[in-house]
Amino acid sequence: MIQFHFDRRITDLLEDENISFYKKKQDVFEQFQHSSMIGWTEDVDSDMLSSLIALRDEVKKHSQCLVVVGIGGSYLGSYAINQLFSSYFHSCSFPIIYVGTTLSSDYLDELFEELRTKDFSLFVVSKSGNTMETVLFYQKIKRFMEEKYSLEELRKRIIICTNLSKGYLREQINQYHFVSFSIPENIGGRFSLITPAHLFPLSFSIDIFQFVSGYFQGKSYQEEAYRYAFCRKKLFDLGKVIENFCVYDEKFLPFTEWLKQLFAESEGKEKRGIFPVSTLYPRDLHSLGQFVQEGNPVLFETFFQVDNSSLKDEFSSLSSIVFDSVIQAHCSGGVYCNLICISCLDEFHLGELMYFFMMSATFSSYLFEVDPFDQPGVEVYKNAILQHTNFDFFHQKSD
Ligand code: PA5
Repeated sequence: MIQFHFDRRITDLLEDENISFYKKKQDVFEQFQHSSMIGWTEDVDSDMLSSLIALRDEVKKHSQCLVVVGIGGSYLGSYAINQLFSSYFHSCSFPIIYVGTTLSSDYLDELFEELRTKDFSLFVVSKSGNTMETVLFYQKIKRFMEEKYSLEELRKRIIICTNLSKGYLREQINQYHFVSFSIPENIGGRFSLITPAHLFPLSFSIDIFQFVSGYFQGKSYQEEAYRYAFCRKKLFDLGKVIENFCVYDEKFLPFTEWLKQLFAESEGKEKRGIFPVSTLYPRDLHSLGQFVQEGNPVLFETFFQVDNSSLKDEFSSLSSIVFDSVIQAHCSGGVYCNLICISCLDEFHLGELMYFFMMSATFSSYLFEVDPFDQPGVEVYKNAILQHTNFDFFHQKSD
């Protein structure tokens, strides 16, 4: 179960906003229902899930790890979940290595050093099939693999997930007959959690059936998702233009990266939107905490709490004291604090939580009167790269 406690001071304000709250809700729900980009709300075929498990079993037979290449919405979801379910100190029995988000030559050298003595498979995700960072890493790793494996072997080891019909990666699938999955046209990158783009890498570390059923259960939080969106918009109108997602466990940080992308890329348009940041407490209480408490009052906070009342150790009881004290202190400093409590952090509840946020980011974008499902600002950057690079990176290859 997930419980939402939005800051009392803001929910009190909502009492006066009753009419606007309900009127806008009707508008927002209508826009949502009529959007052509809500494929992520539609049921998933259980045969698709079984085929992912079957492929995972095949990969495990001939590989010692899986290298996943993707960026933005094509990797953050599965990366965040995988991190949440990983051990702090031990790499899991079947490591997943996420690459393609930086352009460091040192990183690439070390990656190849790491892979030189290993048998591995490659999973490449790009909805457009043309993203520069992803294509570049794909080309480099494929070339590296060609030195190790025959084409027949490559066909077992390279798996591509892209759109159905166009782009560089689709051409590669057609040319080499690699195993492939598609991302439906009506599901955007950051909303593609329940497509193979995320479910395939996740199948190595979690129960994807549980995750998917929790995800759809998340639909029951539609009212809360709207309430959260409405509160955020009210906070924005009060000058609170930054939302700080506060977590108490390092494993939760990648999840906040996912949240940051979801909100920033969905609602940050036309000079509008809330800028999302995240902090790890208590670590950041001893640095950024000063600003939160007494600095420029531009932010509000959303805290995550996982119920650990069944744990009776000293750390757990101390951490709930810290948790309550931080909220008390920040509220006394005038910071608005929302609280999201999760009864248990398993696949099912995580699925619910992620669906909740996807709905809420969508509603929030509609309240800001922007389209949640496009990202024109990202295109500006992509075009700038093409203008400044004097070569066609798609075709500087040996194939
Ligand atoms: O959410 C989005 O749409 C973006 O973050 C994309 O996922 C990101 O730009 C990568 O694009 P692609 O999947 O086409 O490689």
